[in-house]
Amino acid sequence: MVTPLSFKQRAEYLDSQYEDHSDLFEIPTFESMGLRDRLEGKSGESGESGDTGSGSNHSPPHKVTYLCGNSLGLMPKSTPLLVNKELKAWGDRGVESHFRHPLENQGCVNWVDIDLPVVPLLAPIVGARQNEVACMGTLTMNLNSLLCSFYQPTETRYKILFEKHAFPSDYYAMLNQVRLHGLDEEDAIIQMAPRKGEFLLRTEDILSTIEKEGESIAVVCFSGIQYYTGQYFDMERITRAGHEKGCIVGWDLAHAVGNVEVKLHEWDVDFAAWCSYKYLNAGPGGIGGIFINSRFFEDSNWRPRLAGWWGNNSSIRFEMREEFEPIRGALGFRQSNPSVLDVVSLRSALETYEKCGGIKKLREKSKEMTGFLQELLVASEYYREKEEEGEPHFTIITPLKADERGAQISLLFGPGDVMERVFKYMNERGVICDDRKPNVIRLAPVASYNGFRDCYEGVRVMEEGLRVVSGGRESTNLQ
Ligand SMILES: Cc1ncc(COP(=O)(O)O)c(C=O)c1O
Repeated sequence: MVTPLSFKQRAEYLDSQYEDHSDLFEIPTFESMGLRDRLEGKSGESGESGDTGSGSNHSPPHKVTYLCGNSLGLMPKSTPLLVNKELKAWGDRGVESHFRHPLENQGCVNWVDIDLPVVPLLAPIVGARQNEVACMGTLTMNLNSLLCSFYQPTETRYKILFEKHAFPSDYYAMLNQVRLHGLDEEDAIIQMAPRKGEFLLRTEDILSTIEKEGESIAVVCFSGIQYYTGQYFDMERITRAGHEKGCIVGWDLAHAVGNVEVKLHEWDVDFAAWCSYKYLNAGPGGIGGIFINSRFFEDSNWRPRLAGWWGNNSSIRFEMREEFEPIRGALGFRQSNPSVLDVVSLRSALETYEKCGGIKKLREKSKEMTGFLQELLVASEYYREKEEEGEPHFTIITPLKADERGAQISLLFGPGDVMERVFKYMNERGVICDDRKPNVIRLAPVASYNGFRDCYEGVRVMEEGLRVVSGGRESTNLQ
């Protein structure tokens, strides 16, 4: 008789089936995180991967299990090298590095064009043509800036449709866009909530709202992936439905970019904005990006925008003329000269992303890894299909189908303060994930630097935490 593999053995087997790129990243250790390493001096569960020890002279430092790329992706090792080159250029040549970079022979770019090499790296990740993408600003600023161009309410078509429980920054942006036009938010904002007792928005409900209200909707603007539940919306169908009713359709891709394979051009999306610090690993507060469909550039004078000199015809930019001739394409929406340090940090991250296989390969691995994480969670004795009263437990509020989510799985804990206690337990034991009040923990294995073994380790420690919270001993049934 063949004995089935344990989860741990399967994790090891699955890891052996994929190239390991984790070496391209700085993975925090117990020591660097300021955590007490409970494995110090003994070979424990997670030490068997060769990571045992606490940074002593004899063994490599014990890495934490980082499952938090949905919040802030890890730092590529190449990033400090690239950033340091720009600091050196600043030190060596000051302003002249804009046109005469001292390290051009080492692949550095004159600052005046610093963001241009990033565009061909970004475009395939979002399924765009190169003239449809620009790297600029930050997510909320870009969303506001794009809405200034795309949200042009008229007497009869003036509403914005988006999610109830959208990320608060998006809500504030939409609310104030409506106010800027002097409209009544009660009337001009439609926020779609899941049905009573459900966590996810049903596509059919979104489509029927568009069908019903579409003629009064100016802009439909959902997030590609919902930050709290991890739900990946059917972007293609929603975009099509919006267009059939004459609406503009835009997307906030904060949690989608670099995580799932979006095809903005093919799906005929009008506009999109994203940040680069989650699955793209460009660093905290990293420079964001925009997509504008090339349809809009057929007319060279296409619509007013929040403008600045960096969007102007680059051949006359420094002549300081009072002539605004925007670059035809997304680059024409840039306002300021970009932060060189932020741009090279993004460039380093995108080059690393390519080395890890690019979006297609990474998404394949991600689907399998998150599927494995789900299996582990569902096998837990604390897992319940639905919330219940009484004993500590958790449910999964993310869609269970791989095509309806990205890397992230969101867990809803109960009762009372169980989530907070389990979260603390995990964090103290080097499982780094994030909590969203009041009672959700989000786990996100990232294909470029996590392995199946991280999923195993994360759930093992979480189970242990649940056992302790339930009044038991530190142990787990997970094999
Ligand atoms: C969906 C969503 N929208 C907006 C934001 C805000 O991003 P920023 O602070 O970069 O504008 C975030 C941040 O995580 C987000 O997840």
